[in-house]
Amino acid sequence: MFARYTAPAVAIAAITALATMAVLAATDGATAQTVNQPPDTMAARVEACTPCHGNKGEGTSDVYFPRLAGKPAGYLYNQLLAFRSGRRKYPPMNYLLEFLPDPYLEAMAEYFASEHPPLPQPAPSEVSKDVLAHGELLATSGDAGRNIPACVSCHGPGLTGMQPGIPGLLGLRANYISAQLGGWRYGTRTAKSPDCMQLVAGHLTEADVTAVAAWLATRPAPSNPAPVPKGTYALPFGCGSQPN
Ligand code: HEC
Ligand code: HEC
Repeated sequence: MFARYTAPAVAIAAITALATMAVLAATDGATAQTVNQPPDTMAARVEACTPCHGNKGEGTSDVYFPRLAGKPAGYLYNQLLAFRSGRRKYPPMNYLLEFLPDPYLEAMAEYFASEHPPLPQPAPSEVSKDVLAHGELLATSGDAGRNIPACVSCHGPGLTGMQPGIPGLLGLRANYISAQLGGWRYGTRTAKSPDCMQLVAGHLTEADVTAVAAWLATRPAPSNPAPVPKGTYALPFGCGSQPN
């Protein structure tokens, strides 16, 4: 999971772009066009993000940097608020977002939510068939005896998520998924109450995390990867509808 700290070239490119972003965020639309300043287009705003997340938020070859494209805008916005406040920790992102105002974050969230590059081909799994089968069981049926609801009960039968706050779980690598579940288990990633993922992840063992992350990463793209509309199904614990 420390792969995330091994991309200095990318981080430097991002920090260079940050200088541009800080200028854009600090200047309002009317004065932004003056001497030698780049226009405040969405492409300029996300220039600092794309080395890690891809031009349309499709992700990059790095096994840790997550795909953003097509996730619910409300979910993405909540994450940007969480990185800005330090509730969610990843130093390059905490630093990048520190001085950006809410509407700026909201616009970036909407931009990535509205992009729909194709989902990547699932990577071949490195775990055994038995481990994958255990992952599938947890994802699709949960384990009532251990108070683990099925992942699909919130993330949707197609794992495509639901507006406004539940992300799809497709197109993410096993490394990233297991690090997020670990973050909730150990309290380094939290969301505002009810923090449903903390309730779920708190019941998972290390072996469960490996299995469910591996199985999710092998899922092929569905014919319609879009998150379903708000209220399509009822969520356990009333999750995912409140902003951060
Ligand atoms: C140096 C690489 C890097 C840069 C630059 C970067 N990110 Fe990230 N981003 C990451 C990583 C890594 C994570 C996952 C961190 C974690 O929780 O472990 C992440 C997480 C996210 C998430 C949450 C994704 C999810 O599914 O929960 C959002 C949203 C996001 N980034 C948006 C942005 C935006 C917008 C920018 C530009 C302002 C940006 N990022 C710049 C690497 C980067
Ligand atoms: C009770 C509802 C609920 C259940 C059940 C649930 N989740 Fe979640 N999950 C959520 C919510 C809500 C979020 C968004 C949290 C946030 O805003 O940070 C989320 C986010 C996630 C994320 C972060 C995605 C990203 O892009 O960073 C992962 C990974 C995840 N869930 C995996 C799982 C797995 C695996 C299971 C089954 C073992 C599961 N979830 C079961 C509600 C649920």
